[in-house]
Amino acid sequence: MKVLVTGGAGFIGSNLIDALLKRGDTVLCLDNLSTGSKSNVEHCFKNPCFQFIEGSILDWRLLEGIIGKIDVIFHMAAAVGVKYIVDNPLDSIITNVRGTEKILDAAYTYGRKKVIIASSSEIYGKNKKVPYKEEDDRVLGPTNINRWSYSASKAIDEHMSFSYATKGLPVVVLRFFNIYGPRINEEAYGTVVAQFIKQALRREPITVHGTGKQTRSFTYVDDCVKGIIRSSEVEEARGKVFNIGNTRETKIIKLAKLIKKLSNSPSPIKRIHYHDYYGLSYEDAPRRVPDITRARKILGFDSQTSLEEGLEKTIAWCKEHYSH
Ligand SMILES: NC(=O)c1ccc[n+]([C@@H]2O[C@H](COP(=O)([O-])OP(=O)(O)OC[C@H]3O[C@@H](n4cnc5c(N)ncnc54)[C@H](O)[C@@H]3O)[C@@H](O)[C@H]2O)c1
Repeated sequence: MKVLVTGGAGFIGSNLIDALLKRGDTVLCLDNLSTGSKSNVEHCFKNPCFQFIEGSILDWRLLEGIIGKIDVIFHMAAAVGVKYIVDNPLDSIITNVRGTEKILDAAYTYGRKKVIIASSSEIYGKNKKVPYKEEDDRVLGPTNINRWSYSASKAIDEHMSFSYATKGLPVVVLRFFNIYGPRINEEAYGTVVAQFIKQALRREPITVHGTGKQTRSFTYVDDCVKGIIRSSEVEEARGKVFNIGNTRETKIIKLAKLIKKLSNSPSPIKRIHYHDYYGLSYEDAPRRVPDITRARKILGFDSQTSLEEGLEKTIAWCKEHYSH
């Protein structure tokens, strides 16, 4: 297989590339290094089956030169993370909507290539009915709250994907639920796991937003990567959307305590207001839990890594790579 991984220098993309190279694929990595880093794929540079292109998914000429030679596109590139989106709303919308539009257009125009689209649990917004099934409603806040633009942009990506699917493009959409693991990004967008580990390792207060009773379902990156690869292999997945996540629901306060314990940190756990971090116009989603019945049945997907095991591996990696 000759594959393209957009956003391949990012957290999930680079872990995916390792698995694809191991499978024997020839991998082209396209990344503009906006939140990704060359250091995530540096170890691949001596592999003759790997090529890195620094460039943007928004560059149509570049895509035209690449897509015809590719069998499968793993589209991971996006503006990611609530904090990043809140701080850079316009760039984020353009990257996520126009970028995906170009990838789908190129895939369709140059040979109807298979495309795997990375979407997000943010799609469900603040819907209180959990666990989420793929067909559940989206419940979003008003458009003057930047946070919801990420959900909206991923929803447009999904609508475009399904429209291309009806035109015959083999496309699969995957909704990821809070992925964590080695190479989780320390600076660019501060996901909660990265943030807590960094604070714990620096012996600074671990800052929990709000009451800490809000929940998420944390999914280890190796499990996520297995789901991504399966979705590209299983014919029945074409034209469908899948939740890719761990079904264990964890309160954020519990996550903070677990990370403190597993990293042997003396850090105190401190509650802060959302608006101290995100600004005044912010809303959070109270719970996030996937129903993975469909992914289990069609992809044979399961998220088997326990939170404790996954966090231990992640903390070990962060100890070596984070500045502290
Ligand atoms: N990490 C999670 O928990 C999570 C959850 C839900 C969805 N996702 C989705 O998974 C995908 C990968 O996320 P990640 O966590 O690895 O984030 P990441 O920021 O580490 O990776 C995104 C990559 O895309 C690159 N990129 C951004 N704009 C680009 C452009 N215009 N052209 C080329 N490359 C560009 C960045 O440099 C980065 O390397 C994204 O689509 C994201 O929306 C991630």
